[in-house]
Amino acid sequence: MFKLLKLQDPTLVGSLRSVCPLLLSTRRMGSYEQRPPAGPSSVSAAQQAPGPLYAETPVHQSPILSESLAKAPDDHVFWKQKSLSRLFTIGHGGSEEQLENDVRAHIVEEAIRVLRSNDYGHYTVPAQGLYPFQWNWDSALVSAGWAVFDEARAWRELEFLFSGQWEDGMVPSIVFHKPSDTYFPGPEIWGTPERPSKSTGISQPPVAALSVRFLYEHAEHRKVAEEKMESLFPKLLAWHRWWYKARDPKNKGVVAILHPWESGMDNSPAWDDSMQFPVDDIPPYCRCDLNHVNASMRPTKETYDHYLTLLYRFKAANFYDPDKLYWISPFRVTDLCVNSILFRANRDLSWIAQKLGKQDAVDEINQWLAKGFEAFSHLWDEDAGLFKCEDQITGKLADAPISAAFLPLFAGVASKEQAAKLALNLDKWLNKVSYGVPSTDPDDSRFEQLRYWRGPVWLIINWMISNGLKHYGYTDLAKQIEDHSKALTEKAGLREYFDPITGDGAGGRDFSWTAAMCLAWLDRPTAIAIGHKMSGPKQHLDD
Ligand code: GLC
Repeated sequence: MFKLLKLQDPTLVGSLRSVCPLLLSTRRMGSYEQRPPAGPSSVSAAQQAPGPLYAETPVHQSPILSESLAKAPDDHVFWKQKSLSRLFTIGHGGSEEQLENDVRAHIVEEAIRVLRSNDYGHYTVPAQGLYPFQWNWDSALVSAGWAVFDEARAWRELEFLFSGQWEDGMVPSIVFHKPSDTYFPGPEIWGTPERPSKSTGISQPPVAALSVRFLYEHAEHRKVAEEKMESLFPKLLAWHRWWYKARDPKNKGVVAILHPWESGMDNSPAWDDSMQFPVDDIPPYCRCDLNHVNASMRPTKETYDHYLTLLYRFKAANFYDPDKLYWISPFRVTDLCVNSILFRANRDLSWIAQKLGKQDAVDEINQWLAKGFEAFSHLWDEDAGLFKCEDQITGKLADAPISAAFLPLFAGVASKEQAAKLALNLDKWLNKVSYGVPSTDPDDSRFEQLRYWRGPVWLIINWMISNGLKHYGYTDLAKQIEDHSKALTEKAGLREYFDPITGDGAGGRDFSWTAAMCLAWLDRPTAIAIGHKMSGPKQHLDD
């Protein structure tokens, strides 16, 4: 175990805070400002290395693509045999120099401070003011951050998210537990019935099963974790079933999002074509987001008009009745983010079901996985070497090259051949920016370095892509993304997202999921070394 300073002295923390940016600009940043010289890229290095694959049941010796290994039947076996268990791999902490350790230890303390300051007791808001309610995938990701220093609080985050679950299984994108006038559109605009809390009438990427497994596998209180997992399991299963019933009535094997907000990537260029429907005569509205963040970093007014058109149409359709919604929505897209996360979450749900001895559920989930595997093959664009979202109304693949194109690696649904092409593309993208992963290919005309999901780097996506790369053996590329992510947090702090060219922070400050990614992913070795892991208050664990 490497030695770290325990940063309890506030003066010491303060002085480190002031020196960190300087240290970084002189030491770490230099290596990112210069692009790597031409020569063997991360991808080719990964391909040459015998590279470790999964922790369990490795079936291939290396990620090198050979023709015989790339055939479809083998791929079918390949994805099935992978359990994808190493969610937040503990990486390279032991070999870093002391200075780096101290900087990261400071970030751990900052991350804990951010989660605590955004803590509303039973749920964590993404950021004060800008996002004052409980957001779905934010909360699920944040629970993994809490788990590193307060196991009981981590479980509570998930339990409270499911307190907003609808009778039909849907878990809303936002649960409006307490009123706030700093966000639009709030509960009065959505106008959903209280069931049991006020909420939106749409969902978000289903991360929660991943978090339940992570919390369970890292629990110190095993018995409590077993109980929590058992009580959350039927709720998770009901939610996953809802996705298939409400969002895949044609039984394609992949689900549709009916609103860009359901993807979590609100203004991705992948929606541009599908958002061409005419705007309705909607009531005048006043956006609150622009009170917090510069307009150049946010979706445009035109995009917002479309968001609200969808919202009001859904509201008019018998309060979000899913049997109607799918058919009436002018926006119906197979989104790579939701589908990759759902696929991965299904693997974890199947793992949980197995643990709980629920064989019927295992069989049901495995059918979703098998069907999903086939359906993903239709989202592959061979010429681009990328996965693409699909407009389910026109049947066309969305041509925009977005970071979600790499998420099938996280799902473990890409074949080895596809993974090799994705890794090559990703390496190219990283060579065009100072910090990866940009949310749109920087060469694409729709790339905007500061505008939300049209260019900036998001740490949660970096974690997913890096995790996926590791599973396919591209450890160097995964490490590069990890290093870029660390550099961004050191340069800009725990911001909502980051400019891939300058590395400046953008959007909200003191952002919960960025803090959680430091705790659970980038800095878990550091957090453990300074005594945080699962070592927080546990007095409420048995509540
Ligand atoms: C934005 C993001 C979404 C996130 C929410 C709260 O709407 O696009 O993914 O869940 O903010 O952070």
